Amino acid sequence: AVLLSGPRSAEYRRGGGTDVQGDAHVNIDDAGLTLADPTAYADDRRLHAALSALRREDPVHRVDPLPAFNPFWAVTRHADVVEVERQHETFINEPRPILVSAAQDRYTAEHGRMLRTLVHLDDPEHKALRSVVADWFRPRALRKIEVDVRRLAKRSVDKMAELGGECDFAQEIAVDYPLYVILSLLGLPESDFPRILQLTQELFGSDDAELRRGRSPEELLQVLLDFFDYFNRITADRRANPTDDLASTIANARIDGEHLSDSDAASQYVIIATAGHDTTSSTIAGGLQALVAHPGELERLRRDPELIPSAVEEMIRWVTPVKEFMRTATTDYALGGKRIEAGESLLLCYPSANRDEAVFDDPFRFDVGRDPNRHLSFGFGAHVCLGATLARMEARAFFAELVPRLQRVEPAGEPEWSDTTFVGGLKHLPLRYRIT
Ligand code: HEM
Repeated sequence: AVLLSGPRSAEYRRGGGTDVQGDAHVNIDDAGLTLADPTAYADDRRLHAALSALRREDPVHRVDPLPAFNPFWAVTRHADVVEVERQHETFINEPRPILVSAAQDRYTAEHGRMLRTLVHLDDPEHKALRSVVADWFRPRALRKIEVDVRRLAKRSVDKMAELGGECDFAQEIAVDYPLYVILSLLGLPESDFPRILQLTQELFGSDDAELRRGRSPEELLQVLLDFFDYFNRITADRRANPTDDLASTIANARIDGEHLSDSDAASQYVIIATAGHDTTSSTIAGGLQALVAHPGELERLRRDPELIPSAVEEMIRWVTPVKEFMRTATTDYALGGKRIEAGESLLLCYPSANRDEAVFDDPFRFDVGRDPNRHLSFGFGAHVCLGATLARMEARAFFAELVPRLQRVEPAGEPEWSDTTFVGGLKHLPLRYRIT
Protein backbone atom coordinates (compact mmCIF):
# COMPACT_ATOMS: atom_id res chain seq x y z
CA ALA A 1 0.00 0.00 0.00
CA VAL A 2 1.09 3.50 -0.68
CA LEU A 3 1.90 5.50 2.41
CA LEU A 4 1.73 9.25 2.05
CA SER A 5 2.58 11.04 5.25
CA GLY A 6 0.90 14.31 6.12
CA PRO A 7 2.58 17.48 7.29
CA ARG A 8 4.09 17.47 10.77
CA SER A 9 2.98 20.95 11.82
CA ALA A 10 0.44 23.62 11.06
CA GLU A 11 3.35 25.88 10.15
CA TYR A 12 4.23 23.47 7.37
CA ARG A 13 1.03 24.35 5.57
CA ARG A 14 1.90 28.03 5.48
CA GLY A 15 3.22 28.06 1.91
CA GLY A 16 0.59 29.01 -0.61
CA GLY A 17 -1.47 31.16 1.69
CA THR A 18 -3.68 28.70 3.48
CA ASP A 19 -6.37 30.11 5.75
CA VAL A 20 -5.26 33.71 5.69
CA GLN A 21 -8.46 35.44 4.76
CA GLY A 22 -9.88 35.65 8.24
CA ASP A 23 -6.92 37.58 9.64
CA ALA A 24 -7.51 40.63 11.83
CA HIS A 25 -7.92 44.08 10.33
CA VAL A 26 -4.94 45.29 8.32
CA ASN A 27 -4.14 48.99 7.95
CA ILE A 28 -4.40 49.65 4.22
CA ASP A 29 -1.32 51.88 3.96
CA ASP A 30 0.73 49.25 5.77
CA ALA A 31 -0.70 46.65 3.39
CA GLY A 32 0.52 48.73 0.42
CA LEU A 33 4.02 49.02 1.90
CA THR A 34 4.13 45.24 2.35
CA LEU A 35 4.41 44.87 -1.43
CA ALA A 36 7.83 46.51 -1.43
CA ASP A 37 9.15 44.42 1.48
CA PRO A 38 11.11 41.35 0.29
CA THR A 39 10.62 39.53 3.60
CA ALA A 40 6.82 39.60 3.14
CA TYR A 41 7.12 37.25 0.16
CA ALA A 42 8.78 34.67 2.41
CA ASP A 43 5.73 34.71 4.69
CA ASP A 44 2.55 33.90 2.78
CA ARG A 45 0.31 34.48 5.76
CA ARG A 46 1.48 38.07 6.11
CA LEU A 47 1.56 38.70 2.36
CA HIS A 48 -1.92 37.37 1.70
CA ALA A 49 -3.44 39.16 4.69
CA ALA A 50 -2.21 42.40 3.07
CA LEU A 51 -3.30 41.43 -0.45
CA SER A 52 -6.77 40.30 0.62
CA ALA A 53 -7.25 43.63 2.42
CA LEU A 54 -6.11 45.60 -0.63
CA ARG A 55 -8.41 43.69 -3.02
CA ARG A 56 -11.32 44.23 -0.68
CA GLU A 57 -10.78 47.84 0.41
CA ASP A 58 -8.61 49.65 -2.12
CA PRO A 59 -7.79 47.50 -5.15
CA VAL A 60 -5.93 50.25 -7.02
CA HIS A 61 -3.92 51.68 -4.14
CA ARG A 62 -1.35 54.45 -4.20
CA VAL A 63 1.82 53.38 -2.35
CA ASP A 64 3.44 56.64 -1.33
CA PRO A 65 5.58 57.76 0.35
CA LEU A 66 8.21 55.05 0.44
CA PRO A 67 11.64 56.13 1.63
CA ALA A 68 13.60 53.74 -0.56
CA PHE A 69 11.24 53.45 -3.55
CA ASN A 70 9.55 55.80 -5.96
CA PRO A 71 5.75 55.83 -5.52
CA PHE A 72 3.57 53.39 -7.47
CA TRP A 73 -0.02 52.19 -7.80
CA ALA A 74 -0.60 48.66 -6.50
CA VAL A 75 -3.04 46.85 -8.84
CA THR A 76 -4.37 43.85 -6.95
CA ARG A 77 -7.54 42.64 -8.72
CA HIS A 78 -7.40 40.14 -11.59
CA ALA A 79 -9.64 42.25 -13.88
CA ASP A 80 -7.55 45.39 -13.38
CA VAL A 81 -4.26 43.59 -14.06
CA VAL A 82 -5.74 42.29 -17.34
CA GLU A 83 -7.11 45.75 -18.23
CA VAL A 84 -3.62 47.26 -17.85
CA GLU A 85 -1.72 44.46 -19.60
CA ARG A 86 -3.97 44.27 -22.63
CA GLN A 87 -3.25 47.93 -23.49
CA HIS A 88 0.46 47.81 -24.12
CA GLU A 89 0.58 51.19 -25.81
CA THR A 90 -1.15 53.01 -22.96
CA PHE A 91 0.89 51.12 -20.34
CA ILE A 92 4.51 50.56 -21.33
CA ASN A 93 7.39 48.63 -19.75
CA GLU A 94 10.04 51.33 -19.77
CA PRO A 95 11.34 53.11 -17.80
CA ARG A 96 10.26 50.98 -14.83
CA PRO A 97 9.58 47.33 -15.79
CA ILE A 98 10.07 45.97 -12.26
CA LEU A 99 10.20 47.34 -8.73
CA VAL A 100 13.73 48.38 -7.81
CA SER A 101 15.00 50.95 -5.32
CA ALA A 102 14.71 54.67 -6.09
CA ALA A 103 18.53 54.75 -6.19
CA GLN A 104 18.58 52.05 -8.88
CA ASP A 105 15.83 53.83 -10.88
CA ARG A 106 17.95 57.00 -10.75
CA TYR A 107 21.14 55.17 -11.74
CA THR A 108 19.41 53.63 -14.78
CA ALA A 109 17.95 57.00 -15.81
CA GLU A 110 21.46 58.52 -15.73
CA HIS A 111 23.54 55.68 -17.19
CA GLY A 112 21.14 53.62 -19.31
CA ARG A 113 20.93 49.82 -19.11
CA MET A 114 23.60 47.21 -19.75
CA LEU A 115 20.92 44.60 -20.38
CA ARG A 116 18.04 45.40 -22.69
CA THR A 117 15.96 42.25 -22.61
CA LEU A 118 12.41 41.76 -23.88
CA VAL A 119 11.01 42.96 -20.57
CA HIS A 120 12.91 46.25 -20.96
CA LEU A 121 11.55 46.99 -24.44
CA ASP A 122 8.37 48.39 -25.96
CA ASP A 123 7.17 48.35 -29.55
CA PRO A 124 8.44 48.51 -32.21
CA GLU A 125 11.72 47.08 -30.79
CA HIS A 126 9.93 44.62 -28.53
CA LYS A 127 7.93 43.12 -31.37
CA ALA A 128 10.98 42.82 -33.63
CA LEU A 129 13.19 41.16 -31.00
CA ARG A 130 10.45 38.87 -29.71
CA SER A 131 9.86 37.57 -33.23
CA VAL A 132 13.54 36.52 -33.44
CA VAL A 133 13.03 33.78 -30.84
CA ALA A 134 9.24 33.30 -30.75
CA ASP A 135 9.16 30.32 -33.15
CA TRP A 136 11.32 28.29 -30.79
CA PHE A 137 8.72 28.49 -28.04
CA ARG A 138 5.65 27.43 -29.99
CA PRO A 139 4.14 24.05 -29.03
CA ARG A 140 5.02 22.42 -32.35
CA ALA A 141 8.68 23.43 -32.16
CA LEU A 142 8.92 22.35 -28.54
CA ARG A 143 7.63 18.88 -29.35
CA LYS A 144 11.09 18.23 -30.82
CA ILE A 145 12.72 18.58 -27.41
CA GLU A 146 10.06 16.76 -25.41
CA VAL A 147 12.11 13.56 -25.36
CA ASP A 148 15.07 15.50 -24.00
CA VAL A 149 12.91 17.11 -21.34
CA ARG A 150 11.59 13.70 -20.25
CA ARG A 151 15.13 12.34 -20.10
CA LEU A 152 16.21 15.25 -17.90
CA ALA A 153 13.13 14.81 -15.68
CA LYS A 154 13.98 11.15 -15.23
CA ARG A 155 17.57 12.02 -14.42
CA SER A 156 16.38 14.40 -11.68
CA VAL A 157 14.10 11.79 -10.10
CA ASP A 158 16.90 9.20 -10.36
CA LYS A 159 19.13 11.67 -8.53
CA MET A 160 16.52 11.97 -5.77
CA ALA A 161 16.60 8.18 -5.45
CA GLU A 162 20.41 8.17 -5.35
CA LEU A 163 20.39 10.73 -2.53
CA GLY A 164 19.16 7.91 -0.32
CA GLY A 165 15.74 8.99 0.84
CA GLU A 166 16.42 12.46 2.18
CA CYS A 167 17.37 15.76 0.56
CA ASP A 168 16.84 19.48 0.43
CA PHE A 169 14.64 19.22 -2.64
CA ALA A 170 14.80 22.94 -3.48
CA GLN A 171 18.60 23.07 -3.46
CA GLU A 172 19.52 19.61 -4.67
CA ILE A 173 16.91 18.84 -7.33
CA ALA A 174 14.63 21.73 -8.29
CA VAL A 175 17.39 24.24 -8.98
CA ASP A 176 19.25 22.20 -11.59
CA TYR A 177 16.56 20.63 -13.72
CA PRO A 178 15.09 23.71 -15.53
CA LEU A 179 18.53 25.13 -16.16
CA TYR A 180 19.61 21.87 -17.80
CA VAL A 181 16.52 22.05 -20.01
CA ILE A 182 16.90 25.65 -21.08
CA LEU A 183 20.62 25.45 -21.72
CA SER A 184 20.18 22.33 -23.79
CA LEU A 185 17.65 24.34 -25.86
CA LEU A 186 20.15 27.17 -26.21
CA GLY A 187 22.70 24.58 -27.32
CA LEU A 188 25.30 25.09 -24.62
CA PRO A 189 27.45 22.15 -23.49
CA GLU A 190 26.73 20.46 -20.16
CA SER A 191 30.24 21.30 -19.00
CA ASP A 192 29.22 25.00 -18.94
CA PHE A 193 26.13 24.36 -16.82
CA PRO A 194 27.64 24.85 -13.34
CA ARG A 195 29.19 28.13 -14.42
CA ILE A 196 25.91 29.45 -15.86
CA LEU A 197 24.04 28.28 -12.79
CA GLN A 198 26.37 30.27 -10.58
CA LEU A 199 26.21 33.38 -12.73
CA THR A 200 22.41 33.27 -12.94
CA GLN A 201 21.94 32.84 -9.24
CA GLU A 202 24.38 35.51 -8.26
CA LEU A 203 23.03 38.06 -10.69
CA PHE A 204 19.33 37.44 -10.72
CA GLY A 205 18.83 35.21 -7.67
CA SER A 206 16.81 37.50 -5.45
CA ASP A 207 17.10 39.97 -2.63
CA ASP A 208 17.81 37.09 -0.32
CA ALA A 209 21.05 37.62 1.60
CA GLU A 210 21.75 33.88 1.83
CA LEU A 211 21.36 33.38 -1.92
CA ARG A 212 23.29 36.52 -2.80
CA ARG A 213 26.20 35.56 -0.55
CA GLY A 214 26.91 39.17 0.34
CA ARG A 215 28.24 40.33 -3.04
CA SER A 216 29.03 44.04 -3.33
CA PRO A 217 27.74 46.09 -6.31
CA GLU A 218 31.27 46.04 -7.80
CA GLU A 219 31.42 42.26 -7.55
CA LEU A 220 27.99 41.98 -9.16
CA LEU A 221 29.14 44.19 -12.01
CA GLN A 222 32.08 41.84 -12.51
CA VAL A 223 29.66 38.90 -12.65
CA LEU A 224 27.70 40.72 -15.36
CA LEU A 225 30.86 41.44 -17.35
CA ASP A 226 31.86 37.76 -17.14
CA PHE A 227 28.42 36.88 -18.47
CA PHE A 228 28.82 39.25 -21.43
CA ASP A 229 32.26 37.91 -22.15
CA TYR A 230 31.00 34.33 -22.16
CA PHE A 231 28.00 35.09 -24.39
CA ASN A 232 29.98 37.27 -26.80
CA ARG A 233 32.19 34.27 -27.48
CA ILE A 234 29.04 32.19 -28.14
CA THR A 235 27.76 34.82 -30.61
CA ALA A 236 31.08 34.87 -32.48
CA ASP A 237 31.22 31.08 -32.57
CA ARG A 238 27.63 30.62 -33.85
CA ARG A 239 28.18 33.21 -36.56
CA ALA A 240 31.30 31.36 -37.71
CA ASN A 241 29.78 27.87 -37.29
CA PRO A 242 25.97 28.05 -37.24
CA THR A 243 24.19 24.99 -35.81
CA ASP A 244 20.50 24.24 -35.28
CA ASP A 245 20.31 25.54 -31.71
CA LEU A 246 18.59 28.59 -30.28
CA ALA A 247 21.91 30.38 -29.73
CA SER A 248 22.56 30.18 -33.50
CA THR A 249 19.12 31.67 -34.20
CA ILE A 250 19.88 34.61 -31.93
CA ALA A 251 23.45 35.09 -33.18
CA ASN A 252 22.43 35.04 -36.85
CA ALA A 253 19.12 36.94 -36.62
CA ARG A 254 18.85 40.13 -38.64
CA ILE A 255 16.59 43.08 -37.94
CA ASP A 256 16.40 45.57 -40.83
CA GLY A 257 19.24 43.64 -42.46
CA GLU A 258 21.62 44.00 -39.48
CA HIS A 259 22.83 41.42 -36.95
CA LEU A 260 21.91 42.15 -33.33
CA SER A 261 24.60 44.05 -31.46
CA ASP A 262 26.65 41.90 -29.07
CA SER A 263 24.82 43.32 -26.09
CA ASP A 264 21.35 42.80 -27.63
CA ALA A 265 22.28 39.20 -28.44
CA ALA A 266 23.64 38.70 -24.91
CA SER A 267 20.45 40.21 -23.46
CA GLN A 268 18.40 37.60 -25.31
CA TYR A 269 20.45 34.68 -23.98
CA VAL A 270 20.30 36.15 -20.51
CA ILE A 271 16.51 36.64 -20.44
CA ILE A 272 15.94 33.12 -21.72
CA ALA A 273 18.41 31.53 -19.30
CA THR A 274 17.20 33.49 -16.29
CA ALA A 275 13.46 33.83 -16.97
CA GLY A 276 13.34 30.11 -17.66
CA HIS A 277 15.19 29.08 -14.55
CA ASP A 278 14.16 30.26 -11.06
CA THR A 279 10.53 30.49 -12.19
CA THR A 280 10.31 26.83 -13.14
CA SER A 281 12.38 25.58 -10.18
CA SER A 282 10.11 27.53 -7.82
CA THR A 283 7.07 25.93 -9.43
CA ILE A 284 8.44 22.41 -9.06
CA ALA A 285 9.62 22.87 -5.46
CA GLY A 286 6.48 24.79 -4.41
CA GLY A 287 4.28 22.28 -6.24
CA LEU A 288 5.84 19.33 -4.44
CA GLN A 289 5.61 21.13 -1.09
CA ALA A 290 1.92 21.79 -1.74
CA LEU A 291 1.38 18.07 -2.45
CA VAL A 292 3.19 17.12 0.76
CA ALA A 293 1.13 19.64 2.73
CA HIS A 294 -2.10 18.35 1.11
CA PRO A 295 -1.67 14.55 1.08
CA GLY A 296 -5.22 14.04 -0.17
CA GLU A 297 -4.33 15.93 -3.35
CA LEU A 298 -1.18 13.85 -3.83
CA GLU A 299 -3.21 10.68 -3.41
CA ARG A 300 -5.74 12.00 -5.95
CA LEU A 301 -2.93 12.60 -8.43
CA ARG A 302 -1.49 9.13 -7.89
CA ARG A 303 -4.86 7.58 -8.56
CA ASP A 304 -5.53 9.69 -11.63
CA PRO A 305 -2.35 10.71 -13.54
CA GLU A 306 -4.57 12.38 -16.15
CA LEU A 307 -4.84 15.19 -13.62
CA ILE A 308 -1.15 16.07 -14.04
CA PRO A 309 -1.76 18.95 -16.49
CA SER A 310 -4.37 20.57 -14.26
CA ALA A 311 -2.25 19.88 -11.16
CA VAL A 312 0.69 21.67 -12.80
CA GLU A 313 -1.55 24.61 -13.67
CA GLU A 314 -2.69 24.76 -10.05
CA MET A 315 0.93 24.62 -8.84
CA ILE A 316 1.79 27.57 -11.10
CA ARG A 317 -1.18 29.51 -9.68
CA TRP A 318 -0.44 28.46 -6.11
CA VAL A 319 3.24 29.35 -6.21
CA THR A 320 3.02 32.41 -8.50
CA PRO A 321 6.82 32.49 -8.96
CA VAL A 322 6.84 35.99 -10.50
CA LYS A 323 5.57 38.42 -7.90
CA GLU A 324 5.22 41.51 -10.05
CA PHE A 325 5.96 43.38 -13.22
CA MET A 326 5.36 47.10 -13.62
CA ARG A 327 3.96 49.38 -16.32
CA THR A 328 4.08 53.15 -16.75
CA ALA A 329 1.08 55.11 -18.09
CA THR A 330 1.63 57.10 -21.28
CA THR A 331 -1.63 59.07 -20.84
CA ASP A 332 -4.00 59.86 -17.99
CA TYR A 333 -6.27 56.88 -17.36
CA ALA A 334 -9.11 55.96 -15.01
CA LEU A 335 -8.53 52.54 -13.43
CA GLY A 336 -10.76 51.06 -10.75
CA GLY A 337 -12.14 54.51 -9.96
CA LYS A 338 -8.67 56.05 -9.51
CA ARG A 339 -7.07 58.61 -11.77
CA ILE A 340 -3.67 57.43 -12.97
CA GLU A 341 -1.62 60.28 -14.42
CA ALA A 342 0.69 60.01 -17.42
CA GLY A 343 4.17 59.03 -16.18
CA GLU A 344 2.93 57.20 -13.06
CA SER A 345 3.82 53.54 -12.58
CA LEU A 346 1.60 50.59 -11.68
CA LEU A 347 2.68 47.38 -9.99
CA LEU A 348 0.83 44.33 -11.35
CA CYS A 349 0.44 42.11 -8.33
CA TYR A 350 0.19 38.54 -9.66
CA PRO A 351 -0.01 36.73 -6.27
CA SER A 352 -3.07 38.85 -5.51
CA ALA A 353 -4.73 38.41 -8.92
CA ASN A 354 -4.26 34.65 -8.47
CA ARG A 355 -6.25 34.64 -5.20
CA ASP A 356 -9.00 36.95 -6.46
CA GLU A 357 -12.35 35.70 -5.11
CA ALA A 358 -14.11 37.23 -8.14
CA VAL A 359 -12.33 34.77 -10.46
CA PHE A 360 -11.43 31.66 -8.43
CA ASP A 361 -13.81 29.51 -6.38
CA ASP A 362 -12.30 29.07 -2.95
CA PRO A 363 -8.98 30.63 -4.05
CA PHE A 364 -7.05 29.55 -0.94
CA ARG A 365 -7.72 25.86 -1.61
CA PHE A 366 -5.04 23.85 -3.42
CA ASP A 367 -7.04 21.75 -5.91
CA VAL A 368 -5.18 19.58 -8.44
CA GLY A 369 -8.34 19.33 -10.52
CA ARG A 370 -9.14 23.07 -10.62
CA ASP A 371 -10.92 23.91 -13.86
CA PRO A 372 -11.19 26.60 -15.11
CA ASN A 373 -7.96 28.07 -13.82
CA ARG A 374 -7.48 31.51 -15.34
CA HIS A 375 -4.38 32.39 -13.33
CA LEU A 376 -2.12 35.26 -14.36
CA SER A 377 1.21 33.68 -13.35
CA PHE A 378 2.46 34.04 -16.92
CA GLY A 379 1.20 37.62 -17.26
CA PHE A 380 -1.02 38.64 -20.15
CA GLY A 381 -0.89 40.49 -23.47
CA ALA A 382 2.10 41.54 -25.57
CA HIS A 383 4.69 40.50 -22.98
CA VAL A 384 2.96 37.29 -21.89
CA CYS A 385 5.55 34.71 -20.89
CA LEU A 386 7.33 33.40 -23.94
CA GLY A 387 8.29 30.18 -22.14
CA ALA A 388 4.86 29.22 -20.77
CA THR A 389 4.51 26.12 -22.96
CA LEU A 390 8.03 25.01 -22.11
CA ALA A 391 7.53 25.62 -18.38
CA ARG A 392 4.34 23.52 -18.44
CA MET A 393 6.11 20.76 -20.37
CA GLU A 394 8.95 20.67 -17.83
CA ALA A 395 6.72 20.58 -14.77
CA ARG A 396 4.42 17.95 -16.30
CA ALA A 397 7.38 15.75 -17.27
CA PHE A 398 8.80 16.04 -13.78
CA PHE A 399 5.61 15.13 -11.90
CA ALA A 400 4.68 12.44 -14.44
CA GLU A 401 8.02 10.79 -13.60
CA LEU A 402 7.96 11.46 -9.85
CA VAL A 403 4.40 10.74 -8.73
CA PRO A 404 4.22 7.03 -9.73
CA ARG A 405 7.66 6.37 -8.21
CA LEU A 406 7.06 8.22 -4.95
CA GLN A 407 6.12 5.58 -2.36
CA ARG A 408 6.30 7.80 0.68
CA VAL A 409 7.11 11.45 1.39
CA GLU A 410 7.17 13.61 4.49
CA PRO A 411 8.79 16.82 5.71
CA ALA A 412 12.28 16.45 7.16
CA GLY A 413 12.27 20.00 8.56
CA GLU A 414 10.55 23.32 7.97
CA PRO A 415 10.53 24.74 4.44
CA GLU A 416 11.96 28.24 3.91
CA TRP A 417 10.99 30.77 1.26
CA SER A 418 13.35 33.35 -0.21
CA ASP A 419 13.09 37.09 0.40
CA THR A 420 12.29 38.73 -2.91
CA THR A 421 9.93 41.24 -4.47
CA PHE A 422 10.41 39.77 -7.96
CA VAL A 423 11.04 36.07 -8.65
CA GLY A 424 11.28 33.34 -6.08
CA GLY A 425 9.84 30.63 -3.97
CA LEU A 426 11.22 27.91 -1.76
CA LYS A 427 14.91 28.08 -1.05
CA HIS A 428 14.90 25.07 1.31
CA LEU A 429 12.57 22.10 1.21
CA PRO A 430 13.89 19.28 3.42
CA LEU A 431 12.07 16.04 2.57
CA ARG A 432 12.28 12.40 3.59
CA TYR A 433 10.91 9.94 1.04
CA ARG A 434 11.03 6.55 -0.60
CA ILE A 435 11.35 6.33 -4.36
CA THR A 436 11.38 3.22 -6.53
C1 HEM B 1 7.99 36.86 -19.36
C2 HEM B 1 6.34 34.11 -15.73
C3 HEM B 1 8.95 30.34 -17.34
C4 HEM B 1 10.84 33.16 -20.77
C5 HEM B 1 7.30 36.41 -18.25
C6 HEM B 1 6.36 37.23 -17.50
C7 HEM B 1 5.91 36.46 -16.48
C8 HEM B 1 6.55 35.17 -16.58
C9 HEM B 1 4.91 36.88 -15.40
C10 HEM B 1 5.97 38.68 -17.81
C11 HEM B 1 4.64 38.69 -18.51
C12 HEM B 1 4.02 40.04 -18.68
O1 HEM B 1 4.72 41.08 -18.61
O2 HEM B 1 2.80 40.06 -18.93
C13 HEM B 1 6.91 32.85 -15.86
C14 HEM B 1 6.61 31.73 -14.99
C15 HEM B 1 7.35 30.66 -15.44
C16 HEM B 1 8.11 31.13 -16.59
C17 HEM B 1 5.66 31.76 -13.81
C18 HEM B 1 7.42 29.25 -14.93
C19 HEM B 1 6.46 28.65 -14.29
C20 HEM B 1 9.65 30.76 -18.43
C21 HEM B 1 10.51 29.94 -19.24
C22 HEM B 1 11.05 30.76 -20.19
C23 HEM B 1 10.53 32.08 -20.00
C24 HEM B 1 10.74 28.44 -19.05
C25 HEM B 1 12.02 30.45 -21.31
C26 HEM B 1 12.81 29.54 -21.40
C27 HEM B 1 10.23 34.40 -20.66
C28 HEM B 1 10.58 35.53 -21.50
C29 HEM B 1 9.76 36.60 -21.09
C30 HEM B 1 8.93 36.10 -20.00
C31 HEM B 1 11.62 35.54 -22.62
C32 HEM B 1 9.73 38.03 -21.64
C33 HEM B 1 8.61 38.15 -22.64
C34 HEM B 1 8.42 39.56 -23.14
O3 HEM B 1 8.68 40.53 -22.41
O4 HEM B 1 7.98 39.68 -24.30
N1 HEM B 1 7.38 35.16 -17.68
N2 HEM B 1 7.82 32.46 -16.79
N3 HEM B 1 9.66 32.05 -18.92
N4 HEM B 1 9.24 34.76 -19.78
FE1 HEM B 1 8.43 33.58 -18.36
